[in-house]
Amino acid sequence: MIKFISYLLKILYISILFSNSVKALNIIMPDNIFTPIQAKNGMVVTSEQLASQIGIQVLKNGGNAIDAAVTVGFVMSVTFPQAGNIGGGGFMLVYSADDNKVIAIDYREQAPAKASQDMFLDATGEVDYQLSQFSYLSAGVPGTVAGMAMALEKYGTLSLAEALAPAIKLAETGFILNHSISNSIKQRSDNFSKYPTTKAIFLKPDGNFYEAGELLIQKDLANTLKTIVKQGVKGFYTGEIAKLIANDMHKHGGLITTADLANYQPKLREPMYGTYRNHEIYSMSPPSSGGTHIIQILNILENYNIKEHNTANTIHLMVEAMKLAYADRAKYLGDTDFVTVPLKGLTSKKYAAKLSKLINKLKPNNNIHFGQPSNYESEETTHYSVVDKYGNAVSNTYSLNFSYGSGIVIKGTGMLINNTMDDFSSKPGKPNAYGLIGGIANSIEPRKRMLSSMSPTIVMKNNRPFIITGSPGGSKIITTTLQVILNVIDHNMNIQEAVNSVRIHHQWQPNEIRVEKGLNLDTINLLKSMGHTVVMKHTMGAAASILVDNNLYYGASDPRRNGLALGY
Ligand code: DON
Repeated sequence: MIKFISYLLKILYISILFSNSVKALNIIMPDNIFTPIQAKNGMVVTSEQLASQIGIQVLKNGGNAIDAAVTVGFVMSVTFPQAGNIGGGGFMLVYSADDNKVIAIDYREQAPAKASQDMFLDATGEVDYQLSQFSYLSAGVPGTVAGMAMALEKYGTLSLAEALAPAIKLAETGFILNHSISNSIKQRSDNFSKYPTTKAIFLKPDGNFYEAGELLIQKDLANTLKTIVKQGVKGFYTGEIAKLIANDMHKHGGLITTADLANYQPKLREPMYGTYRNHEIYSMSPPSSGGTHIIQILNILENYNIKEHNTANTIHLMVEAMKLAYADRAKYLGDTDFVTVPLKGLTSKKYAAKLSKLINKLKPNNNIHFGQPSNYESEETTHYSVVDKYGNAVSNTYSLNFSYGSGIVIKGTGMLINNTMDDFSSKPGKPNAYGLIGGIANSIEPRKRMLSSMSPTIVMKNNRPFIITGSPGGSKIITTTLQVILNVIDHNMNIQEAVNSVRIHHQWQPNEIRVEKGLNLDTINLLKSMGHTVVMKHTMGAAASILVDNNLYYGASDPRRNGLALGY
């Protein structure tokens, strides 16, 4: 008996010691367990470890969440070339504690002035995906540099030079490649090999690959970043770099001119707003569809009890709601500076109540078309999350579209250029790379911004940030972000459990539920017996997330990537 009690005491002692050491020593918890890292003063969660380390250092030096987010954004353009970028674009949500307000920065790419609706159609009128995805024509005017600078100027405390310094150092003196980046270069090398400028950076002079453990130096990129320090944002949009971009475009049949670059402006926007079971949801507004449809799906699901996690009944309700939202996405969503989008209707509770009547609790509705929201008009991307000791929060998703974008490095800049023009609907009814269908609302027009699914999100509770989340994953960004929210609010999970948990996805067309490995086969069989088509494919998303509770920060990097949550 005494032996047994002393054994119990020992276990208790070890567990107390362990839990204290987590708090005191800030030990990084491995991702494959279900406990988030916790900290009091600040936190950075990204999909790339060096970036997290540099971001947390910015916070420790007294910088705020916006300083850290912008520094991380530039660092990842060097250390995470598949999605971190200066040649792409994205969206940033900022919660400013001083203003007690969430604002959105839209730094999405936009179509060049010479772009036209049919530019990706071949002689037979079909979409030429080689042109829309892997050519100089596939590039939109990049927004990242202007967007990051705007965030810093409005809400940061660092100078652009300070925010760029770590990225410049890493580009100039190199950084050690990890397995995940070296593997991703190998996977995309077919695409690189066509472009000498890209080959020169991502392959060794003898044509071999850089292996994990080897140093990747990017001198041209370092010079480009230095030009931004010397000449400011103008250096990129009207100076030397703009000329290099326009010359290379002209030489290879691309459309971006110096005028396109000079005209580019990031935009401050009102985020989309909704409520869900006593929480407030802020997420990205158009030209992203993310916030609109996350709120629409939450509004529909609010009509049901979905507390039972991953049962066939819960998944059935979730996918029926997803189908209704993605059908509306295809019809109505586009850049609101060019087309009228019935946003109030799409996110209204009354419209959601009407849509939920289309859901049969026992079988799939295979006859879903877009609805009539206007009747209710009363009213390899990467995501990272940052919070600081001042109470600010940043939720940022940015992208080159595909992993390494078009695969094209612009001569003399070291910069990969995006292939985000493919996010437009090149031909109504024809799917883009993510199987997403669009209509006239998302057709190509000069200077229009292509529709996105990127969904940086801040969920508020009691008027303070509660969950900071978002994800890569193309069309699956919306449903991934949604499920992190549902897992916390409906399923009472901690943030690491919410991020780890197996994901499902439906995007209306194709008419199938996509599930990750790990969803119970019994559940899958029940869904099939209800009439659903279920396909099991590789993992979806990477939801680098933070939860704030009782003045403590809880961080969860996504085990689906080689990321890191760091706090102090
Ligand atoms: O903006 C969008 O919706 C897409 N360009 C995002 C691409 C993406 O997430 C690829 N990553 N996994």
